[in-house]
Amino acid sequence: MDQDARQAKLITADQSNEYPLEQHPATLGTDVIDVSSLSQQGLFTYDPGFISTAACESTITYIDGDAGQLLYRGYPIEQLAIHYTYPSIVHLLLKGSLPPAPDTFEATLCEPRNIQASLPTQNQSAHPMGLLLSHLAHEAAHQSLPSNKPADRLQQALDAIHVLPRLAANILRTLTEQPILEPQPNLGYINQFLFLCFGKTDIDPKVTRALDVIFTLHADHEQNASTSTVRMAGSTGTPLYAALSAGISALWGPAHGGANEACLCMLNQIGSAAQVETYLNKAKDKSDPFRLMGFGHRIYKNYDPRARIMRNICHDMINLNQGSKDPLFELALTLEDKALNDPYFIEKKLYPNVDFYSGLTLKAMGFPPQYFTVLFALARTAGWTSHWLEMLNDPHHRIHRPRQWYTGPTQRDCPHQQTST
Ligand code: SDX
Repeated sequence: MDQDARQAKLITADQSNEYPLEQHPATLGTDVIDVSSLSQQGLFTYDPGFISTAACESTITYIDGDAGQLLYRGYPIEQLAIHYTYPSIVHLLLKGSLPPAPDTFEATLCEPRNIQASLPTQNQSAHPMGLLLSHLAHEAAHQSLPSNKPADRLQQALDAIHVLPRLAANILRTLTEQPILEPQPNLGYINQFLFLCFGKTDIDPKVTRALDVIFTLHADHEQNASTSTVRMAGSTGTPLYAALSAGISALWGPAHGGANEACLCMLNQIGSAAQVETYLNKAKDKSDPFRLMGFGHRIYKNYDPRARIMRNICHDMINLNQGSKDPLFELALTLEDKALNDPYFIEKKLYPNVDFYSGLTLKAMGFPPQYFTVLFALARTAGWTSHWLEMLNDPHHRIHRPRQWYTGPTQRDCPHQQTST
C-alpha cells in the first residue's frame, strides 16, 4: 500500500460519473494514476503504443528523455561505463547493488554450464538472430518451468547470461564455417566471448574494454519493446529461455535493436556526403517510407547519453583497427551534423540514439553486420532477466492480459448456409 498516494478522480464526458483513483508519486520522473479499478466501472483506458502507460512498477532503470539521463539502480550510465565492467552491471541490475570487493562475481558468470549440442545450420545466409532464436528455443525445450524459489530463479538468470554468449559464438563460428570452440579457463566474461568467436586469447585490451562498455550501454533500458515482451511472455510462467526468445524476436525489428544493422546499411546506401541532403529529404517526406536509422527515440527528446559514449568508442575502434578514417564514420559525422541542424529534426526532437554509432563500431571490431543485433541481445540479457526476476518476485504479479477498444461488428446471425446433407 502506497502511504504517499493522493486522491485523483476521473469525470466522464457527460459529468454524470466521478471515479476516485489513486495517484502515486514516483521517486524520479512521472507520477502514475492507478486506473486498474476502472474496468469494474465499465471503462477501459486507451493508449496505443503505450505512450502514457506505466505497465509495471520497477526499481531497476530510470530514463529522463528530456534531460538525456539514464540511471541503472540510480547510478548514471556515464559513471558506470567508465568505472565498472559489464559483469558488475549484471550484479547491479539483477541483485540491486554493485558487487562487493573482492569481486568474485565475474568468475561465477564464467563457471562452466552445459548447453545443448549446437544445431546444424544448413544455410550460411541464415540471419544470426533467427539462428539465436532456434538455438535458444532448443535450450528452452530442455529447461524446466521457473522455480517458485527466488534463489533458483536468480540462478536460472545467471545461467542465461552465461549460455547466450556461447550460443551466439557457436552461431558465428558455424556461419563462418569454423569449428566450434570450448570455453577456456580464466579468460573473463568478455574475453571468453571474444575467444569463442574469433579463437584468439591475445585480444587487444582496448577491444576488450570497448566491447565491455558496449555491453554496459546496452544492458537495460526500462520498459522498451523487447523487455516488455519478456515481461509479457514471462508472466505466463513459461520457461525463462522461452521468454527470452520472445524478447529476442522483438529486438530483431529495425525499429528496435535491428536499427544498428539497418543504420550501417543506410550509410552504405547514402554512400557519400553529397547524398546526405537527398536522404534527409527522404526521411522528412511522409510519402517516403525511408527513415533515418539510428535517429529518434520514443523517450529521448535529447541526445541519447549512450550514443555520445558510443561515438567516442567508435572513433577509437576505427583508429585502432584501420589506423585511418573509415569513410562511413566520416559520413555518419556529416549526417549527424546536418540532421542536428535541420529544422525538421530539431522540431521533432530527433537525436542520434544508441544504434547510430554501434554498427560502425562493431564492424571495426570485425563482427559481420547481421551479427550486430545478436550482440545487442547478449548485452540486454542482463536487463531482460532483471525485469523477469523483478516481475516474478512480486507477490502480486499476475498474467499480463490487456483489454481493447472494440469497434467491430455488433452481434449478427450467420447467413443461412445451404448445409450439405
Ligand atoms: C532502440 O525503447 C527503447 O528504449 C529502445 C532502445 C533500447 O535500448 O531498448 O533505446 C533501443 O530501439 C533505439 C531506437 C532504434 N530505432 C531506430 O533508430 C529506428 C529509427 N527510429 C524511428 O523508427 C523512431 O524514432 C522510433 C521507432 C525509435 C520511435 O518511434 P516513435 O516513438 O513511435 O516515434 P514516431 O514514429 O511517432 O515519430 C514521431 C515523429 C513522426 O513524425 P510525425 O508523424 O509526428 O509527423 O518523428 C518522425 C516520425 O515520422 N520520426 C522520424 C524518425 N523517427 C521519428 N523521421 C525520420 N527519421 C526517423 N528516424
